[in-house]
Amino acid sequence: MNLDDESPMCLADTSSGEARETHALDVAGGEFAAALIAGLSARSKSIPCRFFYDAQGSRLFERITDLPEYYPTRTETGILRGHADDLATLAPPRSVLIEFGSGSSTKTEILLEAMPQLHAYVPIDISASALEEAEERIAKCFPALRVMPIVGDFSKPLQLPADIAGKRRLGFFPGSTIGNLTEREAVGLLSSMRSILGAEGVLVVGADLKKDVRRLLAAYDDAEGVTAAFNLNLLQRANRELGADFDLYAFDHRATYDMRHGRIDMHLVSRVAQVVTVLGHRFRFRAGEHIHTEHSHKYDIDGFGDLVRRAGWHPQACWTDAERLFSVHVLSAR
Ligand code: SAH
Ligand code: AVI
Repeated sequence: MNLDDESPMCLADTSSGEARETHALDVAGGEFAAALIAGLSARSKSIPCRFFYDAQGSRLFERITDLPEYYPTRTETGILRGHADDLATLAPPRSVLIEFGSGSSTKTEILLEAMPQLHAYVPIDISASALEEAEERIAKCFPALRVMPIVGDFSKPLQLPADIAGKRRLGFFPGSTIGNLTEREAVGLLSSMRSILGAEGVLVVGADLKKDVRRLLAAYDDAEGVTAAFNLNLLQRANRELGADFDLYAFDHRATYDMRHGRIDMHLVSRVAQVVTVLGHRFRFRAGEHIHTEHSHKYDIDGFGDLVRRAGWHPQACWTDAERLFSVHVLSAR
């Protein structure tokens, strides 16, 4: 994929685009600078994967979900469609659906169609632009539904709308976004979701499954180069927002599979020895040096059950597809 196709996301695209990008900067701009400088100063360089999702990154992620190699989205969507009747029973009348990392909220439509009894839908995402577009579409498709989006980091304390106090809560955490966290982070996040959803809470969570390594590697290194552009957008974002001077053609996208941890790792690999400046900080790269950008853990069903139990959840059901590529778990707080 030609990087110029997607670049550079301009701040002055349209007046509404400008407002969105500015909002995203307010939420994550200062944090991005601090995280980038800390990550590039470490002996093993890294950038946290939550910074993939500015407006450009969210758009590229949506393109990934349509790629022939990227099986998770269509597989999870099929599982959810096949269990729409089961999903409907998880939301008592006037309960609230809270989604973590909602992105485009496309899969959510399956739940919203099955649950006309909902009091409100609270999508939470770090990407202001993705939330704004999703809110607009959901409001059109479900005009009677209260939609209360929250722009923020789900791993930090969040202020929930006062209006949902005392209501039963159903959590939705699809996409295997849980896989982007380390085991320790995943247990921490699942237990904070348990507190948010309350003693009567139920969580529906998607987890990608272990499978043939070639299939996994293809999903994270597609032929068209969309995943490469998604990965490189981290550097483009640093150039756009922080005036960094990364040469995008001097880094390669790489995806590897770590058999011991059962996870895909994404990296940006410096093609040459080079120095990059970010906000006055100079970072030296050796030829072949990696910046680690993402873990994407793959589970087996029993291992995922153990993980959620460590966070205090009780597995109630697990649904998979015929090829056992992906799993959707229903968990209850008690
Ligand atoms: N749920 C959608 C999108 C998955 S992509 C699906 O299943 O297709 C991961 C989403 O989580 C992105 O929209 C990203 O912006 C969001 N995200 C990633 N890290 C986050 C964090 N720490 N806090 C809030 N949202 C986050
Ligand atoms: C959002 N997350 C679950 C995706 C994944 O598969 O780990 C992000 C992604 N990274 C590369 N391709 C897609």
